[in-house]
Formats: sequence, structure tokens, C-alpha cells
Amino acid sequence: MAAVDQVGERQAMLRRRYLRWWLAAPATCLLSFLFLWLPAFVAGDAGVACGGPLSLSPSEMKSGLERKWERLREPVTSTFEQVLVFNALPSVSALLSGAFAARAGRRLSTAVGALAVSVMLVVALDWMYLALGYYRLLNCAGWDGELPWLLWHLLPVLGYSSAAVLLAVGVVARWRSPRSGGSGPVRYDEVIGPLRTAYDDGARQRDVMGKAPWKLAEREAFLKRLNGHGCRRLLEVGAGSGQDSAYFQENGLEVVAVDLSPAMVALCREKGIEAYVMDFLGLDFAAGSFDAVYALNCLLHVPNRDLAAVLDAIHALMRPGGLFFLGVYGLADTTEEGPFEGDDHYPPRFFSFRSDERLQEYARKAFEIVDFHVVEAGGHRFQSLTLQRAV
Ligand SMILES: C[S@@+](CC[C@H](N)C(=O)[O-])C[C@H]1O[C@@H](n2cnc3c(N)ncnc32)[C@H](O)[C@@H]1O
Repeated sequence: MAAVDQVGERQAMLRRRYLRWWLAAPATCLLSFLFLWLPAFVAGDAGVACGGPLSLSPSEMKSGLERKWERLREPVTSTFEQVLVFNALPSVSALLSGAFAARAGRRLSTAVGALAVSVMLVVALDWMYLALGYYRLLNCAGWDGELPWLLWHLLPVLGYSSAAVLLAVGVVARWRSPRSGGSGPVRYDEVIGPLRTAYDDGARQRDVMGKAPWKLAEREAFLKRLNGHGCRRLLEVGAGSGQDSAYFQENGLEVVAVDLSPAMVALCREKGIEAYVMDFLGLDFAAGSFDAVYALNCLLHVPNRDLAAVLDAIHALMRPGGLFFLGVYGLADTTEEGPFEGDDHYPPRFFSFRSDERLQEYARKAFEIVDFHVVEAGGHRFQSLTLQRAV
């Protein structure tokens, strides 16, 4: 198993990851500033020389809104002040927003980030207005070297718009990441959003992945048990793209599959399986309506503090004497949980790896243990449990 650190360290890693987007925003603002204004400072601005970009008289203003905007800008009279104000505003707000993202909680940094994005969009629109002002002066200003003035003055529109997009990506990444701040153990409702995104994005890719021979052997052994116990109706939870559900269905069982990810559920349905988007704490089926439940490598996404509730929910759906296969990766004698550093899915998925003993303790509270064994496969420790609801 690759290294799984403490939750706090992983949160710091995640924060660094989205701060890169956050910091790219002021960098883009700076580039906008340099590209637009440095040549103008050195060579002079032909547009300004022939009257300035704001020389449109009120009579040329088409709407009351335009006049209002013009009045708002009156205090900013000189080109130099405009440079400072209209370049400093987006850069400063992006930097402040990054600082909040690094230190404050998710809600506050998202709010500040959203405000900064609005500032940048307003400034980008303002530059658009300025550029159109220059367009009206084209006859006077003509060309500056090789570049048409209009294009030249549209550069900041592009720059600040992309800064706004970069910042928005940082804000969204922060919002989607599990909550930071070391405020106790992670909760179920904090992890399912990022998990859904990660599995939605990876659904097609996962569907074409082959199954390791030991996984095929595990499900075959469970099928034999089901046949031996006369189990006909099976619910697969966290079914992914439905490969195992399809196997059980092909082998004569009546199968229903559920998964958190709509993309996964769509793939189940493509295989002809009755499938629904449902999460472990929202299983909407009649009590005792299944003979068996199959859960392969999905309950490792449930935080420890919510596992008992999830096992109770599954227990309630099974008829007395029904069988439950619970297979997860775990650790021999320690228990760790948090987002998985270096995960190949994004956002990094939350995992809870339990010790053999701890996992069985959880299971024993709701079920009788029929079988427990470990499969050592490819450096992973797979814990295989067959459980039974008491008769
Ligand atoms: C590692 S995949 C395993 C998929 C499948 N069981 C298999 O072994 O191929 C984990 C699956 O669990 C689903 N999952 C994770 N958390 C869930 C939750 N709270 N409720 C329902 N499904 C969940 C994910 O969407 C994903 O499809």
C-alpha cells in the first residue's frame, strides 16, 4: 500500500495543488499589465495623444447606463492612475483571495474567491469598453508599428478574463476538496461529492480495465455460497460500471446495482442491469427485500465514524439469513484514513484503510462472520469478509 499520511498533511498537499491555480491568476494579471503598458510608457500612446480613450462626449453615449459608468470613472483622470487602478485591482484581489485560500476555511475562501472573480470580470469588461473607445479613435491613432490598436487594447480583456477563469478553477477545486482545518474526523457527506466527481470522470476508463484473477476467484466463491443458500435476489452497492453485477446476472441471479456516480450507473444500464444512482446512506429499497448484498472495494470510501450507519442500512435491506460479501483493501494492524496522496483520480479519493481486527469489529456489530481471509495481491492487502444477517 502506498504511503497514507495523516489527514492534515494531505489537506496541505491538496491546498498546495489548488493554490497553484490561485497564484496563476495574479501572474496573468501581471503579464497583462506588462504586455499592454510597458511599450506604451516607452514609446508613447498614439490613442491617448489624439485625445485619450475617454474623450467620448456625453452626447455620444447611447444609454443612461453608459453615462453612469462614465461618471463613476471621472475621478480616475490620468492614464497613469488608470494603469494603477485597473491593473492593481484584479492583481490585489487575486492575491488576497489566494491568501484567504491558504489560511481561512473553505466557505470564507470561496466567498472571497468569488468576489475576486467578479472584480476581474468587471475590469475585463472595462478594458473592453476602453478598447472600443480606442476603436472610435482609429482614424486618428492609426497603427502602432505592426499592431492594430484595437487588438492591442483587447489584450487586457483576454488577460483578465483568463485570470478570472484561473481563479475560478482554484475556487472550485478548493470547494470540491474534502474539508480542511483539522476539525476532527472526516464525515461521510464531505467525501461523497469529491468521490462522485472522481468516479464520474474515470468511469469509461475503469470500465475497460480487466479484473485480476484473484477478484474473479472471490466473486465465484461468493456465487457458489449464494447458490448453496438459495439466494436469488442480489443488490450490488458501489457497483462501479457493473462488471460484477453483469456476472451475477449472467449466472442466473436477479440483480439490482447502485452507485454514487451517474456515469457508472449509465454504464451498468448499458450492460442491461437494473441500476440506480444511490449512495450507501440513501438506499431506497423495502426492508428485507434482498437475499444478498455484494460490496467490492467501495466501503473503503466510508469514513470510520459513519461505517456502522452504512452497515446498519445494508443490514436492514437483507432478509434474515441473507449473505453479504464485503471486500476492501486494508492494513494488517493499523487504521488510517484520508484523501489518497498521488491518487490517479481527481479530486484525490478519500480512503479508509482498516486493520483486520477493526474491520471485523465493525462487521460483528451488525452481522455474523461466516468467513474472513486475506488476499495479498500486488502489494495490496485485500480483506475478504462473508457475513450473514442473523436468522
Ligand atoms: C473502487 S470502485 C469499485 C467498483 C466495483 N465495485 C468494482 O470493484 O469494480 C468504488 C465504487 O464505489 C462507489 N461509491 C463510493 N462511495 C459511494 C457511496 N457513498 N455510495 C455509493 N457508491 C459509492 C464509487 O462511485 C465507485 O464506483
